[in-house]
Amino acid sequence: MEANKKLLLRAIRGEAVTRPPVWLMRQAGRYLPEYRKVRSQEKNFLKFCYSPDFAVEVTLQPLMRFGLDAAILFSDILVIPDALGQNVEFYEGKGPVLDPICNDKDFERLSMEGFHSHLAGVYETVSRLSKKIPEETTLIGFAGAPWTVATYMVEGQGSKDCPTTRTWAYREPDSFSKLINLLIEATTVYLIKQIDHGAEVVQLFDTWAGVLSEYQFQCWVTEPTRKIVQNIRKVHPNVPIMGFPRGAGIRYLDFVEKTGVDGVSLDNGISIKWAAANIQPKCTVQGNLDNTALIAGGELMEKEIYRILDGFSGGSHIFNLGHGILPQTPPENVLRLIEIINEWKLK
Ligand code: CP3
Repeated sequence: MEANKKLLLRAIRGEAVTRPPVWLMRQAGRYLPEYRKVRSQEKNFLKFCYSPDFAVEVTLQPLMRFGLDAAILFSDILVIPDALGQNVEFYEGKGPVLDPICNDKDFERLSMEGFHSHLAGVYETVSRLSKKIPEETTLIGFAGAPWTVATYMVEGQGSKDCPTTRTWAYREPDSFSKLINLLIEATTVYLIKQIDHGAEVVQLFDTWAGVLSEYQFQCWVTEPTRKIVQNIRKVHPNVPIMGFPRGAGIRYLDFVEKTGVDGVSLDNGISIKWAAANIQPKCTVQGNLDNTALIAGGELMEKEIYRILDGFSGGSHIFNLGHGILPQTPPENVLRLIEIINEWKLK
């Protein structure tokens, strides 16, 4: 009953709504002065993520400023390698740096022992948020998908085309699949715990899915996601699961059919018309707005927003960006975006 007030849950379940719900990837972050202020109190980014006081506060900031339809847990996809025992550091202006996993021997050092106690702060954050957010707001939990997390673990940093990881996956698929299988297990139990603590929807971010060939995409993106979806549904059959195989192109269709996700985030390279015809009949779509349009603002941004609203008005749709908000984004442009969505009426 209570769920009926939640616009996002209604949309993803295919119920009638008068406008699409809206939230934004990376809605908490450096583009907000209030985020930078709280963040300056803790230099170590992972400690910041594991502190429920900080994490709850910054999760709520964009809700208070813009009145969004969902809160996304404040954390990071790299808490999983950290909890498995890999050394992970974040450097200002440089992003994450990890001690790379290069072979079976490095892999042997990873372990699920102490995994949940390491992540206890994240679970506590979810628990507190589920009590604190407005009753019409949906709480989204998340994790990185195995392929993307593996790329950071193997490259030791962010990498545009992930050459070392791709090479390992071709050269020694059995050894690489041990890493992926460990990540499937860790991601499954991590998301189940988030749901146990109050997450109402979960999202898997597969930021680097697009670098893989068709067959490798099947092995390392679609199949691991399918297994995670299946594992979560055994325990929580009614919690919607969303995927984000960024850069998948027309493989989005196969991804949706095989994984059985309830919703999918579309990057800004996807044709709206194609996705409305091919993806939307199968699951809820969200995303597609170019994050740089939100930096620029003005008339062209507004046109892009209306194109997406119009294009997806025939089915289940959650408004979002095609990738995370960038630090240069003026908060006024986000406010304008929210205004447009709030004024929009579905026919
Ligand atoms: O508001 C939210 O969306 C929730 C928080 C969130 C963060 N990271 C906080 C964060 C979420 C959902 C993520 C996901 C994430 N993290 C992804 C997948 C989505 C995507 O954007 O592709 C990836 C690939 C990461 C890994 C990561 N974390 C990188 C590459 C970086 C450095 C780049 C950057 O933006 O600084 C981070 C750091 C990070 N994660 C920040 C935030 C707010 C910035 C850290 C800071 O405050 O200095």
